[in-house]
Amino acid sequence: MPGMKVNNTPTRSLCPAPDARAVDIIDQTALPHAYRILRLSTLADARRAICDMQVRGAPLIGVTAAYGVALALAARSDAASLAEAVATLIATRPTAVNLRWALSRMQTRLAPLPDAERAGAAWREAGLIANEDVAQCRRIGEHGLALLAPLAEGHLSIMTHCNAGWLAAVDYGTALAPIYAAYDAGLAIRVLVSETRPRNQGLLTAWELKQHGVPHALIADNAAGLLLSRHAVDAVIVGADRIAANGDVANKIGTYLKALAAREARIPFYVAAPRSTIDFACASGEAIAIEERDGDELRVVRGQDTLGQPSTVRQLPDDEAVLNPGFDVTPGHLITAIITERGHAAASTAGLRALYPEAGLA
Ligand code: MRU
Repeated sequence: MPGMKVNNTPTRSLCPAPDARAVDIIDQTALPHAYRILRLSTLADARRAICDMQVRGAPLIGVTAAYGVALALAARSDAASLAEAVATLIATRPTAVNLRWALSRMQTRLAPLPDAERAGAAWREAGLIANEDVAQCRRIGEHGLALLAPLAEGHLSIMTHCNAGWLAAVDYGTALAPIYAAYDAGLAIRVLVSETRPRNQGLLTAWELKQHGVPHALIADNAAGLLLSRHAVDAVIVGADRIAANGDVANKIGTYLKALAAREARIPFYVAAPRSTIDFACASGEAIAIEERDGDELRVVRGQDTLGQPSTVRQLPDDEAVLNPGFDVTPGHLITAIITERGHAAASTAGLRALYPEAGLA
């Protein structure tokens, strides 16, 4: 499957500069209205990009953090700088385990090296992490297609939530990779894209699908129950921010409600994610830290005004009480299968162990 494109140009969500001193990212806070490339040159840039969600999505957060370490070490490559970079980046966002996974891989690889070798090795390791993510997402696409294709009786209707496309990874995406693979294989597919209030990551999914030419329709989050109960959907496929060892899945807030409605309607509910999203040290979903986000994400609506300028509208006074958990946990028993780069398995301890028999042995 060829990589993803923007305006017909092959594009990745993150692109290292040839001089190994910067990485270019797509500013996801400007999409879908504006396509803007931002250059990250320092640890502070990488930290801000993750905190402000200019980059977002579990795999991409991990890759950006790895490059953030490399950028820090390009300035100062001693062991204390490595430790400081890791500590700074790990504090950015709590739920997606890919962040911790990438930082601990960087730490393990780089800590034993002499200072003079650390910066070059960091850049190479971040590049390996990025390229492995691309290869894994491509394989998720192939394995996911094998599950989706038999569901198509002339036409395939897939529901997704949030953005688990190439913008959330480096290329292809996780939940969207099987969708792109199905479309490229010639299946007549239509994707129902859940808006995903309050950050509206569904708009990013719609933008991606449009770039690739995949037929889709945006739906309000609250429309999902009706559409599932009326069997307007053949399968739901979502990404993950952390998968516990027992198969429970933390993903963007609203995922759990879709899983419940899909189970009631007996519609398959798939979760697609690479190995870096599985946290074998986390026994169950109850132990997953759920990010509590700023209440202004609910109080203030962002978009474009009638003159095409970026604009905000305050829909609630700033002293209005708001609860804004960013993620929820779907228990494994509501999930038909977890799809990874190795294939698919039941969302259970046995299923994940069958895919990764070596997990926990290192
Ligand atoms: O808060 P975000 O936008 O970083 O949310 C993470 C996600 O993108 C989703 O939860 C996604 O479904 C899993 S990451 C591929």
